[in-house]
Amino acid sequence: MDLSPINMADRVDKDWFSVRNAKLEDAGDVWRIVQEAGWVPFSLQLIKAYMEIAKDGWWVAEVDGKVVGCVMLYGFNETYTFLGILIVEAEYRGKGIGKTLKKEVDSFAGDRTISLVGGEAGMPVYFKWGFKRSIRGSLVKYRFTTIKIPLSHDGESKYKIKDYSEVDWKAILDYDTSFHVIPRE
Ligand SMILES: CC(C)(COP(=O)(O)OP(=O)(O)OC[C@H]1O[C@@H](n2cnc3c(N)ncnc32)[C@H](O)[C@@H]1OP(=O)(O)O)[C@@H](O)C(=O)NCCC(=O)NCCS
Repeated sequence: MDLSPINMADRVDKDWFSVRNAKLEDAGDVWRIVQEAGWVPFSLQLIKAYMEIAKDGWWVAEVDGKVVGCVMLYGFNETYTFLGILIVEAEYRGKGIGKTLKKEVDSFAGDRTISLVGGEAGMPVYFKWGFKRSIRGSLVKYRFTTIKIPLSHDGESKYKIKDYSEVDWKAILDYDTSFHVIPRE
């Protein structure tokens, strides 16, 4: 199966904002948006790693050349995709940017399930978009599970953060498969 985007433009221009495919050079802006949203368990390295892993699956929204929103869709396999880092800067929310980012994600996903793990705060929007709260592994079109995000800055963690270049990818993939149930292809 060809998993490349279907009839998608590299850039969608609206009256006052545009949405375009993101490049690795956008990682700094995405990281700024993630930090402003208070999503603590992330780092610039992690964003870069996601951008390298989910090649072609990133979009950013721009207003007057400034990146103000982002989203990632990672294609696990022929039936399952994972949506992440869907954030619009606070002052630009409620004006249709999130919806436009979601549209790109929908085109990219095609018939595949779009799964996300999100916080309770996002639930009104997930429901609006047709997502159903669901257990891991089930393959409805839109599904989400919830976690409590963000973690507090002083929260205890038993994990150490390493640079992603030092990571054993086989171990990460094995862990990921145990978490997501569905193996990546
Ligand atoms: C979720 C988020 C990305 C949406 O972006 P946005 O630009 O504000 O979204 P839009 O203005 O395009 O609105 C999207 C839809 O949700 C609706 N909506 C927006 N905020 C809503 C709210 N608080 N309650 C109910 N519906 C809401 C809009 O009416 C719109 O409906 P439509 O598609 O029928 O027109 C943005 O609010 C955000 O960054 N939130 C914080 C981060 C977050 O929770 N991300 C999701 C985790 S995966």
